[in-house]
Amino acid sequence: MADAATWSAVDEYVGDLLAPHDEALAAALAASEAAGLPSIQVSPPQGKLLGLLARSIGARAALEFGTLGGYSTIWLGRSLAEGGQLISLEADAAYAEVASANVERAGLADRVEIRVGPALEALPALGAEGAGPFDLVFIDADKASTPEYFSWSLERTRPGGLIVADNVVRDGALVDEANREPAIAAQRTFHEMLAAEPRVEATTIQTVGAKGYDGFSIALVR
Ligand code: SAH
Ligand code: DHB
Ligand code: MG
Repeated sequence: MADAATWSAVDEYVGDLLAPHDEALAAALAASEAAGLPSIQVSPPQGKLLGLLARSIGARAALEFGTLGGYSTIWLGRSLAEGGQLISLEADAAYAEVASANVERAGLADRVEIRVGPALEALPALGAEGAGPFDLVFIDADKASTPEYFSWSLERTRPGGLIVADNVVRDGALVDEANREPAIAAQRTFHEMLAAEPRVEATTIQTVGAKGYDGFSIALVR
């Protein structure tokens, strides 16, 4: 069986051919690394997938939970249709500052708004402003809150829109009932919600790659 080194090599191969970094993405990663941010952004092929999903539904309004240094933000932001807007929520002010500079360097400052603070605290204001309806939501912040982020987003995502959640498999911990970590238990809660929710059709895809063994869920709003 292929090992983690092979998973990384294949990610690199696919990334180099199909999701190559331009200056803005390369600079975003370099600046994030220089600032000491954890290197937990989506891989290049995953960033490309986010962009393809956005473009395949003509997404204009998007919401992201968890900006980090803005790497996925740039993939998403540049894939929005004309006049598109992406709101990205980030708890850590220092990360958000790095992300803002990265987004600006990518020429996306006019279509990306980063809001600093815990996402759960940002949602009431977003709701009060009448934000949305969203075409695409990417949930990638604190994993214990994925179910709440999903519930909130579902109310504000248009029919035909997509809600994508990252890091739902976590080395297979998803199916380890003995694992009671909130971040893991929340992924089971999230899957039970997806199964019981008549307003979405969803699936989960396991992934291997440079970030190890994990997976993501995609829910299509009916
Ligand atoms: N989407 C990014 C990676 C995000 S990593 C990318 O792929 O490029 C997860 C991010 O969620 C971290 O930056 C972390 O600071 C942030 N985060 C953690 N808890 C949060 C919360 N309660 N609200 C908003 N963001 C949070
Ligand atoms: C990790 C990976 C992620 O994709 C993420 O959003 C948060 C954390 C990690 O590997 O720790
Ligand atoms: Mg993630």
